[in-house]
Amino acid sequence: MLHKEKFLLIPGPTEVSPDVLAVMGAPLMAHYMDDFMKLYNETIDMLKKLLQTRSDVYILTGSGSSALEAAICSLIEPGDKVIVDDFLKEFVKTYGGEPIELSVPFGKPIDPAEVERKLEKEKDVKAIAVIHNITFSGVTNPIEEIGKIAYDHGVFFIIDAISSLGGIEIKTDEWHVDIVCSAGQKALAVPAGIAPISVSQRALEAMKNRKEPIRSLYLNLLRYEKPPIDPEKKWHPTPSTCSTVLIRALWKSLKNIMEEGIENCFRRHAIAAKAMREGLKAMGLELLVKDERYASNTVTAVEWPKGYDYPKFWRTLYDDYNIMIGNPPEHQPKGIEKAIFRVAHMGNTATMPCVLMGLAYIEKALNKVGFKTKGGEGVAAAQRIFLETL
Ligand SMILES: Cc1ncc(COP(=O)(O)O)c(C=O)c1O
Repeated sequence: MLHKEKFLLIPGPTEVSPDVLAVMGAPLMAHYMDDFMKLYNETIDMLKKLLQTRSDVYILTGSGSSALEAAICSLIEPGDKVIVDDFLKEFVKTYGGEPIELSVPFGKPIDPAEVERKLEKEKDVKAIAVIHNITFSGVTNPIEEIGKIAYDHGVFFIIDAISSLGGIEIKTDEWHVDIVCSAGQKALAVPAGIAPISVSQRALEAMKNRKEPIRSLYLNLLRYEKPPIDPEKKWHPTPSTCSTVLIRALWKSLKNIMEEGIENCFRRHAIAAKAMREGLKAMGLELLVKDERYASNTVTAVEWPKGYDYPKFWRTLYDDYNIMIGNPPEHQPKGIEKAIFRVAHMGNTATMPCVLMGLAYIEKALNKVGFKTKGGEGVAAAQRIFLETL
């Protein structure tokens, strides 16, 4: 194994590279004044490139949920109608909004036609808020199409890009996305605890022109636009003490992406995902996402074959091979008939060695629970993809 801890093939947190871990071990920086301002501004510039946006970008100290909650509490007022998927519904309800829920079957993407129908039926919808990459099922939603619909109807568009940013392209401005919420611990490959968020000018204007004040202090995005202590962001860029260790880690991880090239980074994820899918199918497993046009480039969900001991399979990987994949037996999605497991290929694990290693151990663990494979065909099928595309 590459190190003695559990090797993280779960969909977040993911493996952090040694050079990123090293900058986290450097002497601590303060969260204000020249040295930190330089690091912070460089990090924001790289995030803007990755997000392909001219919007403002902030970094919250909190997990991905802090960005989602900041977006909703800052933009949505009590009574506002918001078209949502199941996951974002709770955030909208919490701040008094009226969620209009889309029906998204597990393992399938959002149907843009349903979004359009809902917009036509409901009057005065304020926003659409949906997940870009559904980590729980390994589906990537057609955000470009939904963004066009949002734009044509003049509604705000918020996306949860927590497991896509850094691994799957997001054309924030071209796709008319007003707020992109993300997190560090997935494809950005830093530890959990920071949440990048981009906010369009028109969303900021709407926040300034609310009827009711924003009901949060820490998550009020207007305080990130202009921190009360330093509205021009000349020496103190955030409204409260931010995690300089994690921002430095993100700076290093983004530098790595910029050196690789953003396009190359997305291509690497696409190839790793394809190799993982081909490898799993070659072993005789069924993928959850049947229409591979919507299969995620950062995480793959697999249906567990009926009649085989899933807890033993998962535990064999964890206890005997030191590998952690998604969905321990204790963590199965509710209301779904078959068990699933998920394996990530995001950030540092979207690479040939990690995909081949993951497949090799998955096959060994399958054999341990009596699911017979011919021997090595998963790794071979994945390797063919890498050979064709490298
Ligand atoms: C798509 C998506 N949204 C939201 C979250 C919640 O993020 P966090 O746990 O960082 O708050 C996750 C976490 O797995 C996720 O995958």
